[in-house]
Amino acid sequence: MNLVARPCRALTGEVSIPGDKSCSHRALILGAIADGKTRIRGLLESSDVLSTIAALRALGVQIEKCGKGEWVVNGGQWSTPADAVDCGNSGTSARLLIGALSSMPGVSATVTGDSSLSSRPMARLTGPLVQMGARIDGGDRLPLSVHGGRLGGIEHRNVPPSAQVKSAVLIAGLSTNAPVRIVEPVPSRDHTEIMLAAFGCPVSVDDTPGGWVITLGNQRRLLGCDLTIGADPSSAAFPLVAAAIAPGSDVLVRGMLVNPLRTGLYETLESMGADIELSNERIQSGEIVADIRLRYAPLRACHVRADRISAMIDEIPALSVACAFADGESVIEGLSELRVKESDRLGRIVAGLTACGVVALADGDALRIFGRGRARGGARITTHGDHRIAMAFLMLGLGASNPVEVDEAAMIATSFPDFTDTMRGIGADIE
Ligand code: S3P
Repeated sequence: MNLVARPCRALTGEVSIPGDKSCSHRALILGAIADGKTRIRGLLESSDVLSTIAALRALGVQIEKCGKGEWVVNGGQWSTPADAVDCGNSGTSARLLIGALSSMPGVSATVTGDSSLSSRPMARLTGPLVQMGARIDGGDRLPLSVHGGRLGGIEHRNVPPSAQVKSAVLIAGLSTNAPVRIVEPVPSRDHTEIMLAAFGCPVSVDDTPGGWVITLGNQRRLLGCDLTIGADPSSAAFPLVAAAIAPGSDVLVRGMLVNPLRTGLYETLESMGADIELSNERIQSGEIVADIRLRYAPLRACHVRADRISAMIDEIPALSVACAFADGESVIEGLSELRVKESDRLGRIVAGLTACGVVALADGDALRIFGRGRARGGARITTHGDHRIAMAFLMLGLGASNPVEVDEAAMIATSFPDFTDTMRGIGADIE
């Protein structure tokens, strides 16, 4: 399926953004490990999260849907599935489940994924797990066969910063009494740490000269709890960037997760001149959420340093579009991890911007974009099945002089199933 975005006037109104993808995976997996019932509100019902639900059900966990975004997980015992556990396109499902499985004595499973996921590196994950004593057959790519057993402790240095690796190690560590510690010179998103506390397992975080030291607490038996998930800042990125490039726009997202380890895009857009206002900040299930309003203002170029990337790793395609409409040369450093996302995102961004008449190049692991306040558009973008590349270039089409078409647009359901209707709701012309 292809989608076309046509140049539009101002985007205005309130946008309803679905629940955060990272938190949705974690709520399901931790709920499946915990004793008793976990009730989740605001769960993202995208194909990535449905992969986690299907995988957990195949592993013998009972999960029921009670309403839109409302699910109940009956945690406890997992069992060896009859077939391989297919994680589809979802790296978070695969990596967190491998961590959980490796620490479950008597449970064995082979974890697979689609062609994109099967080309993504896994040794960064299996390395620390094997160090803890995990038995995992396979190499650096899926499929991997995991044979659960008793694990020992670890001190793992999380470089490059990966929240998936950190989370897998913390989850694997739940079944041992040994010390489990992670050192992060650059912090990665901390939703697992925050959510573990809600399940009764406090995690301590110390700021030391060598980086953040994250230590799993001694109380490691999880108890089911009630969780409400905030709106996903990585999905909100698309309508908010569209508003940042379409003159006259004024868009509001309510209840967005504003965890400081996820707000890099918004801080960068603000530094570029976008008029951003946060209000109604509150704590919801241990996370900070707030309403965010963005009003159009002309953008200037930005310079993003490598240590900021972790706080906006999934928002770089959207940020690149904003940079194309900014005035001047933007530089975004430290993007090597983008090469191993759902596609080679650095390559896709440069190819897509170039096709749309924007001068852009990859300079080592930095991205240089020569913004001129506008873009020609008028291109058909090959997304390589990457949902965020598809949404980013549709945003470019809304602000450009000519329409932009993206292929494999069905993949948008990976993270944002109602994307097209949501965008139309604020005035976007996408079909
Ligand atoms: C995620 C962590 C990030 C991010 C991914 C979701 C998570 O990946 O890009 O979309 O939920 O922990 P890495 O851990 O590979 O940085």
